[in-house]
Amino acid sequence: MANYIVLGAQWGDEGKGKIVDLIAGYMDMVVRFQGGANAGHTVIINDDEYVLHLIPGGIVSGKAVNIIGNGCVVDPLIFDKERRYLKDKGIPVAPDKLIVSDQAHIVTPMHRHLDKIMNKKIGTTGRGIGPAYVDKVQRTGIRAGDILNGAYEQIFNEQIRYYQRMSECIFEEPFIDINEIKTQFATAADKIKPFIADTVNVIAEAAVRHQNILYEGAQGTMLDVDHGSYPFVTSSSTTIGGAFTGSGVFMDFDKRIGVVKAYTTRVGEGPFPTELHDTTGEQLRKNGHEFGATTGRPRRCGWLDLKALKRSFINNGFNYISLSKISCLSGFDQVKAAVDYDAAGKPVYETFDGWQQPIEGLKKEEDLPGNARAYIDFIESYLKVPVGMISTGPARDHIIIRDFLW
Ligand code: IMO
Ligand code: MG
Repeated sequence: MANYIVLGAQWGDEGKGKIVDLIAGYMDMVVRFQGGANAGHTVIINDDEYVLHLIPGGIVSGKAVNIIGNGCVVDPLIFDKERRYLKDKGIPVAPDKLIVSDQAHIVTPMHRHLDKIMNKKIGTTGRGIGPAYVDKVQRTGIRAGDILNGAYEQIFNEQIRYYQRMSECIFEEPFIDINEIKTQFATAADKIKPFIADTVNVIAEAAVRHQNILYEGAQGTMLDVDHGSYPFVTSSSTTIGGAFTGSGVFMDFDKRIGVVKAYTTRVGEGPFPTELHDTTGEQLRKNGHEFGATTGRPRRCGWLDLKALKRSFINNGFNYISLSKISCLSGFDQVKAAVDYDAAGKPVYETFDGWQQPIEGLKKEEDLPGNARAYIDFIESYLKVPVGMISTGPARDHIIIRDFLW
């Protein structure tokens, strides 16, 4: 039996999808516990690419039972769309492999509409995440269980009244076509019904049976509503505490895996001390194909920020690092990592000699250029946590494994 959690240690897009897929092949259950369709988890198997937003990454391997926990916000329309997308790619998504918590909150078209008109400053994904969590905390939300017992329609209509006024009177924006959205939503709500259940019991029973359980984080630590760069954050707890409230089950994780990208990226607005506005930043974007999986936006790029990561490691108690996209650093004369900030808040860098050799696809540590190894050694010694896996490319087998998890 093994219980693992995979969390993004930076601002999301660390490469969690690949690691989740790798581990999920050996897992009985994969649990998502926060966020919604704002995630963009890319899994590449042979020549096939799967981009998942809402459904847990364990669905691709086909073995695990996947849970969308109570801490998530679920958009029935996107749920249905993603299910059809997977079906078209030959991956069946049936209730024996995917269960949605009856306590999870529902994202409605009104949430998506408001998100788009009110959160421009933050640069959200526009998926209605913030407004859905607002309704949850405000106690005016719809829960998946309300769809099962039919209670949702009344709340849905109340939301329409409220959001229509918000849209027209406060933001002076035309509202969405209500009749159309009502029918669309009702159809999608009907389709999600067979997937809804009490997931707390399902997870607890799997734990009692000593099954292998993986918790899959979305977004990253620095986007956490409490611990991230507020207000430029997402609206959920992306750190380890979110795993407990968002699943309703305590797990004594054997490995708390922090996924760390070998440099830093961020989509949307907000502080980013090591951001590069020059050709080096452009080169990083090009090497790493840094364009959002959910919105297609170009990601802001910069050097690794170890100082910020230190805090992220305190937040999560990581005891295993999965280092990703090291292959995207080939070709630079120098590679830098921030180890502190000066009095003005500017990063203080440690500079490393770069390496020219391509790393993509390497499977053996001995094959890594010496300078890349020195960079990895430094990361380990600074964060005082071992690097257990080094991802060397997008494919499943582009990986150097030092500490096996299965
Ligand atoms: P994965 O799981 C990167 C960012 C958005 C925005 C802020 C708030 O692929 O790592 P939201 O729509 O959540 O209210 O937007 O958070 N953001 C992400 N950035 N990766 C993600 O997910 C993200 N999910 C949200 O760009 O700045
Ligand atoms: Mg992403």
